[in-house]
Amino acid sequence: MEKAIVVAYDKNRAIGRNGDLPWGRSLPADLAHFKKLTKGGNVIMGRKTFESIGSRPLPERENIVISSRPTGVKKVLTAMNLRSALALSRYPTFIIGGSQVYKDALDTPEIDTIYATEIDVEFPDADTFFPKLDMTVWEEVSRTYHPTDDDNAYAFDFVTYKRK
Ligand SMILES: NC(=O)c1ccc[n+]([C@@H]2O[C@H](COP(=O)([O-])OP(=O)(O)OC[C@H]3O[C@@H](n4cnc5c(N)ncnc54)[C@H](OP(=O)(O)O)[C@@H]3O)[C@@H](O)[C@H]2O)c1
Repeated sequence: MEKAIVVAYDKNRAIGRNGDLPWGRSLPADLAHFKKLTKGGNVIMGRKTFESIGSRPLPERENIVISSRPTGVKKVLTAMNLRSALALSRYPTFIIGGSQVYKDALDTPEIDTIYATEIDVEFPDADTFFPKLDMTVWEEVSRTYHPTDDDNAYAFDFVTYKRK
């Protein structure tokens, strides 16, 4: 069963600012890509990421939140750490952040794919980052360019990395 990281970051690997995405809702093509990838699967996220999406489960996916306390939200599973979250997963599984959860996932050999959206811009006031990839461990296997258009404020690449 697939186990993958899904992340979007800027040129400095920034993923967050003030509890939200630095680019806000300005990349609908990336949100559509995220939905298509993760639909029907398990999504695993940290408690702050869960709060950032409105403390509601993402629809059409089984949601698992990593936290030291239960969320108290119906239809959301809680796990104390990534290992326990993976043990609860029943479907193709997507690790969707934030930074500590990504760090743990990069150190977990069974998570062997990264679906990254690499945004061609720098957000100077970001406060949350994706770790730098160790390219002795990961290799790029595909890259698709998406230009700026009427709906999407920045150009970006959809990139897939596989664990070697
Ligand atoms: N660009 C992207 O792709 C992307 C993706 C996801 C999030 N984000 C952004 O990133 C920010 C949120 O990320 P974040 O890094 O601040 O927080 P986070 O990882 O989402 O949540 C941190 C919380 O998760 C729990 N947790 C995480 N790892 C744990 C571990 N190993 N053991 C126990 N508990 C653990 C703890 O919850 P408790 O304190 O409840 O115990 C911790 O306080 C937001 O700005 C969000 O918009 C961006």
